[in-house]
Amino acid sequence: MPTLETTVDGIKFPNPFVIGSGPPGTNKKVICKAFDEGWGGMIAKTVSLDASKVINVAPRYGKLTGVNKKEVFGWENIELISTTPFDQWLDEFKAIKDQYPDHVLIASIMEEYNKDAWCEIVERCEAAGVDGLELNFSCPHGLPERKMGAAMGEDPEILEEVTGWVMAAAKTPVWAKMTPNVTHIEDPTRAALRAGAHGISAINTIRSVIGVDLKTLRPMPTVEGYTTPGGYSSVAVRPIALRMVMEIATLIREEFEGSRTISGIGGVETGEDAAQFILLGADTVQVCTGVMKMGYKMVKPMIEGLLAFMETHGFETIDDFKGHALPYFTTHADLVARQAKAQAEKRAAVAAKAAAKQAEREGITVDDKWDGDDFVQQSDDLVSG
Ligand SMILES: Cc1cc2nc3c(=O)[nH]c(=O)nc-3n(C[C@H](O)[C@H](O)[C@H](O)COP(=O)(O)O)c2cc1C
Repeated sequence: MPTLETTVDGIKFPNPFVIGSGPPGTNKKVICKAFDEGWGGMIAKTVSLDASKVINVAPRYGKLTGVNKKEVFGWENIELISTTPFDQWLDEFKAIKDQYPDHVLIASIMEEYNKDAWCEIVERCEAAGVDGLELNFSCPHGLPERKMGAAMGEDPEILEEVTGWVMAAAKTPVWAKMTPNVTHIEDPTRAALRAGAHGISAINTIRSVIGVDLKTLRPMPTVEGYTTPGGYSSVAVRPIALRMVMEIATLIREEFEGSRTISGIGGVETGEDAAQFILLGADTVQVCTGVMKMGYKMVKPMIEGLLAFMETHGFETIDDFKGHALPYFTTHADLVARQAKAQAEKRAAVAAKAAAKQAEREGITVDDKWDGDDFVQQSDDLVSG
């Protein structure tokens, strides 16, 4: 019987399904609900020292649906980080860890470009008992106006410096969460890992405009007639997330001796989706929008789906198949060369078969070809007419 238990950066997860930072981890009540339903871990909604600067609007979500208007492929949000005061969060972290000492609670943190602020938020979250930290270098809207979130994630130099501050202060494992809104995900990844981050979380949302309302002619989500570009998530982003996880895993293998970890995020809704992220090098997977669409109970079929996949292939642990698909990426030129070779081999095999058939049709002309088993047939073949 396979097991989903896995230890990542020293943290023991009962399964690799972690709730990604966002509404599903926005207070103690919902975090406890997630633990009760069987989630392997929880990244709380991103906190900052001064929540009074965080002001949300409504509406702040937009959906991209299929023709039946029911199936949701894409989801845009212009939501900011947590509006809950930091002290209240610290009380909730403590209370959650008191109630669920064996469950994994990771704080997602974000601050301005200020060393003291980063050190303070790290130390106070850790003092409240969290098991690890995720650095939000990736929120694509609102916060970049204050040089936070993606503004840092898009600048490898600043990201490396800030991660360095955190690593000097932190005692628990640290994951740096990447923005996909960069040309090469390797650049910020390398910067975070060079500064000592234990792991990389990827991806946050992709900068987007979900659509334009054809009645009002205004872009959505429309707030007092206006909008601002937001962050795109859900199943539509999964192929992009898979590509970036593959690139991050390749970099970790090539430049960091495989010694860092990955939490794969983006459009995960099933155990099979999770299997694909793990096959490309992820240690855990995170789910955010999926929970907003389907509720906390979705983790049960996800667990069953991943176990069934492992049983089919005879894998006992997550490590048995982590990164299994990575060696099968190559250049397009190499694909062309491999295909030319395969086609040449196929043609040679067809030609050899045809030659053998032709030789058969020509009949026996040398005595060596007589065969005991086909003797009568061979004799008949030599009969004229
Ligand atoms: C409504 C909403 C709010 C989010 N808030 C945060 C946040 O506070 N901090 C953060 O790091 N990511 C946040 N995210 C990003 C998610 O954690 C995740 O990286 C992204 O949505 C892709 O995963 P998904 O397709 O499973 O949602 C948010 C996503 C959504 C949809």
